Amino acid sequence: MLSSNEIQELNASLQDSQPKEVLKQALALFPNAAISFSGAEDVLLIELASKLPTMPAIFTLDTGRLHPETYRFIERIRQHYDTPVEVLFPDADKLEKLVKTKGLYSFFEDGHEECCGIRKVEPMRRRIRDLDAWITGQRRDQSPSRSEVAIVELDTNFSTESHSVIKVNPLANWNSADVWNYLRLFDVPYNELHDRGYVSIGCEPCTRAIGPNQHEREGRWWWEEETIKECGLHLPGTKIQN
Ligand code: ADX
Ligand code: SF4
Repeated sequence: MLSSNEIQELNASLQDSQPKEVLKQALALFPNAAISFSGAEDVLLIELASKLPTMPAIFTLDTGRLHPETYRFIERIRQHYDTPVEVLFPDADKLEKLVKTKGLYSFFEDGHEECCGIRKVEPMRRRIRDLDAWITGQRRDQSPSRSEVAIVELDTNFSTESHSVIKVNPLANWNSADVWNYLRLFDVPYNELHDRGYVSIGCEPCTRAIGPNQHEREGRWWWEEETIKECGLHLPGTKIQN
C-alpha cells in the first residue's frame, strides 16, 4: 500500500500526463483497479483503456432508476468493446424498506442522500472491498465541489483502517470540450441523451436537460442547493461506515 507521501508524489508526477498515460500507470501499479462507468461521457475511460494491452474490469451501479437510454448505452458499450460490464445492484431488503416506508420519490421530499446511499453508495462500498484502486471520470470543471480533484488521491470515503483505496481520476485536468473533441474525433459511441440537452447524466427522476449557459450540475438534483450536488460517491470529507 502506498503511503500518503507516495500518493502525493505519484499525483505530482502525473500532473502533465495525458489521461491514457495516467490509466496505463495506474493499471501497472494497481492491477486490480476497475473503471467505474456511469453510462455518460466517462465512456472515454473505456475507449482509452481499450487502447492499452489489457482491458481492466468495468462496473456500473444500476440504481434501478436510470433512463432507458442509459441501459441501452451500457449494453451497447459491452458489445462495442467486447468486454464484460459488471452491473451492481442495491441491497433488496434495504431498498424495499425505503420504498415501503417512504415511496418511490422520497428524495423530492427529504433529499437525495438516503436513496443515493442505498442505490449507489452501499453497492459501491461492497465492490470496493476487492479493489486497491478505482478509476473515475471526475473532472475539475464538473462542479465547484470537484475544483480540486487530484489525478491520484486517497479515497477518504471508502478507505477503512484495514483497507486503503486509491481513487484515480485520469480526466481531472480535461474539460468538457476536451472530452467531447476526443469522443467525436475517434467516433466513440455515446449516450443518446447527450443529443437531447442532457450534459451530466444520473438517474432519470433526478436528472434533466439544461439550457444554454446553464452549468452541467444544474441538471442534477435541481431542487436542492448547489453545495450538496453530490450523490455521496465523491462527497469530500464523507466517511462511509462499514
Ligand atoms: S455523481 O456522483 O454526481 O453521480 P457523476 O455522474 O458526475 O457523479 O460521475 C462522476 C464519476 O463517478 C463517473 O465518471 C463514474 O466514475 C462515477 N459514477 C457516477 N455514477 C456512477 C454509476 N451509476 N455507476 C458507476 N460509476 C458511477
Ligand atoms: Fe435515488 Fe435520485 Fe440518487 Fe438515483 S440520483 S439514487 S433516484 S436520489
